[in-house]
Amino acid sequence: MRIPALIDPHVHMREPGATHKEDWASGTAAALVGGFTQVLAMPNTDPPVVDRVSLEKAEQLAVMNARCDFSLYLGAGPNNLARTAELAGKTAGLKLYLDQTYGPLRLDAMSLWQAHFRTWPKDRPLVAHAEGRTLAAAILMAALVDRPLHLAHVATREEILLVRAAKQRGFKVTCEVTPHHLFLTSEDLTGGWGEVRPRLGTQADVDALWAHLAVIDCFATDHAPHTAAEKASAESPPGFPGLETALPLFLTAVHEGRLTLDDVLTRMGDNVRRIFNIPAQPESWVKVDLDKKHTLSAQGMHTKAGWTPFEGWDVHGAVREVMLRGKTVFRDGQVLAQPGYGQRIR
Ligand code: DOR
Ligand code: ZN
Repeated sequence: MRIPALIDPHVHMREPGATHKEDWASGTAAALVGGFTQVLAMPNTDPPVVDRVSLEKAEQLAVMNARCDFSLYLGAGPNNLARTAELAGKTAGLKLYLDQTYGPLRLDAMSLWQAHFRTWPKDRPLVAHAEGRTLAAAILMAALVDRPLHLAHVATREEILLVRAAKQRGFKVTCEVTPHHLFLTSEDLTGGWGEVRPRLGTQADVDALWAHLAVIDCFATDHAPHTAAEKASAESPPGFPGLETALPLFLTAVHEGRLTLDDVLTRMGDNVRRIFNIPAQPESWVKVDLDKKHTLSAQGMHTKAGWTPFEGWDVHGAVREVMLRGKTVFRDGQVLAQPGYGQRIR
């Protein structure tokens, strides 16, 4: 059957700076294979995207190499406060790293977050990486300055309950949850392979996320590729690849009756479009085979990561064909879009 083309509001493409992990050509090939025709890319590249020069450089690389449509986030830094608003219209949104993760972008001083929350235009997406108590603080700060806030990768019971309470109060918060936080617990992967931020939760966390599906606005992969050699090393970097496994995992949940297809499509399409103000793409769709049984494996995947946390998982549901702006960009295992076919969303 045909479904609307999907949008991933949270991916890491690694170009510039770490193209051995991923580049625009490989990462957007993975996106198309996964049924995504629009991706919003995070700014923790090397150099990070924090000003006009770094944004234009990263954008140029994306324009040359992306196979699907894209937009880039600007990172909130200690020194770019005065210049973010003027770039807002060209970006996916402003990303604030309020807790430790991969890369140098982290804001510790609450006064600085507050200044960014105030300065960034209210009608442009503001996304925070905020865990636990930081999440509570970020919600409060958004309420104090009366602006919308999107919470990246909500992962625990206490977090989803907080988001629910904030929504019940009428606060303008929205949130996303990743497939890995819905399908894995901290018991599932050993050592460095399980490193990811936020960390994988307990079974009680996972159960709470599923129980509060109504609170979850979007599913986002947080596709964060690191190579198998890096993951196996003593300083395993946090992050999982996710673009090629997300839809099969969610279609399997549909097959098992844990979700409806509509639950999936609203969270990987309509809601993302609304929250991030993403225009519809004409003549774009995905043909899926809902009954196709197969086993997930990194072999044959298009990401450069070379591994998946879902290796060996039996799933129901596969992407057959992807149409993007009137052109067949993926069919029967072959990525047909060339680097450069992807267009800027704004
Ligand atoms: O696990 C993670 N990896 N979490 C993040 O927030 C960043 C990401 C990365 O860039 O590798
Ligand atoms: Zn991320």
